[in-house]
Amino acid sequence: MKGEQGMQRVLVKIAVVVVAVFAVTSGCALFEDERTAKGRKLYHHYCMHCHGESGRQQEGFNWERMPDPRPRDLSESASMSTFSDKEIFDTISRDMRDTSLQAVLDDENYFAVSTMPTFKYTLSEEELWAVVGYVRTLHGGSLTFDVDGRKAELESRFQAVTAEHDQAKQVMEEALEKQEAEEDDEDMDMEDEEDDLENYEEEEEEIVLPEEEAYEKVAEQFEAAKTALENFSKRPKISQISRPDLTVVEPERVTLQEKGKNLYFNKYGCNGCHSIGDVGGLVGPALDRAGFRLNDTWVYRWVRYPQGMKKHTRMPNLGLDDGDARAVTAYLETLRAPKPDKPIPPPE
Ligand code: HEC
Ligand code: HEC
Repeated sequence: MKGEQGMQRVLVKIAVVVVAVFAVTSGCALFEDERTAKGRKLYHHYCMHCHGESGRQQEGFNWERMPDPRPRDLSESASMSTFSDKEIFDTISRDMRDTSLQAVLDDENYFAVSTMPTFKYTLSEEELWAVVGYVRTLHGGSLTFDVDGRKAELESRFQAVTAEHDQAKQVMEEALEKQEAEEDDEDMDMEDEEDDLENYEEEEEEIVLPEEEAYEKVAEQFEAAKTALENFSKRPKISQISRPDLTVVEPERVTLQEKGKNLYFNKYGCNGCHSIGDVGGLVGPALDRAGFRLNDTWVYRWVRYPQGMKKHTRMPNLGLDDGDARAVTAYLETLRAPKPDKPIPPPE
């Protein structure tokens, strides 16, 4: 009898320990809603190396190697709770701007830290909100922004614009038909007249109808609403980046390289994740020898759309356009450090 009771007690103890260990290791994931759980996963993949698992300073393996300003403490409620959900959203999904320009530094509405990457071109809007929600939990808060309401708003906007679009299209088509019929009539009249070349050319001139202009406008709004709705649930996709012609006329090469260097440090903060010599982050490979190791066409296509070449890479798409990608590629070409004597130990 005694043995059996003892056994039961041991089993209960084991069960308690198992549940406790599970709750701790999963960070109490048992009590998380679906969106926060998604945000946690994304945070672990895209943010943790710099911000640390619990958002504290010095926690992420890259923190020590970051240039100033280093990532702030996301677990600190006093300062973090002064940001609205929307403000955090805007920070993580802003467009990168050149922080060597005074106008950018002076813009109070812009978060001008180049080494905090944007995720606008990497994640869907829904995923961005999930990350904001998870960041909130790091300082004991929760998301108050109405994400479902936002989706509904995008949907109803899309429906409204679709209706407007279809109507404007119909109006335009009717107007075009009418115009064509009138032109045919005029042509018939003209056949009776003498061959007047000048007059004929004038007739050929394209007349843009107000209905066509109105349609163009609505069509633009329609495309914008469609993209906004698509990007809400789907990650932004770019059609394949085609192979560029990277030939540079010699006197322009140096200017391009200098422009690329500035973009590397001051606009896209590549140094937050990559090192050159002893300086810079450790999230991505060191780029000291990029000029030897990497093919420029490959680099161009990689920096424009890393996800197109490696779907789940930790390197976000930073939104480089053709010109910026050319400049950055030209700069990386200049990185030709000699081979190290000793192999560099891999980061932890
Ligand atoms: C390459 C390192 C790096 C990565 C990756 C990174 N951050 Fe940051 N983050 C920074 C730096 C640097 C700052 C600027 C210093 C500061 O204010 O914390 C910053 C600032 C922030 C801030 C504070 C903004 C403010 O207004 O002060 C938030 C919130 C934030 N990051 C969230 C994120 C989230 C969420 C992710 C992942 C989706 C992420 N960060 C990924 C480096 C990084
Ligand atoms: C948030 C961190 C982060 C930022 C910011 C970042 N990278 Fe990366 N980068 C990575 C990671 C991680 C890899 C490794 C890719 C992989 O295999 O998934 C990488 C890979 C690369 C490679 C290939 C290197 C090799 O040896 O294979 C190049 C080139 C590169 N990045 C250039 C850039 C440039 C240029 C910028 C700025 C425009 C930049 N990166 C910004 C994280 C980052």
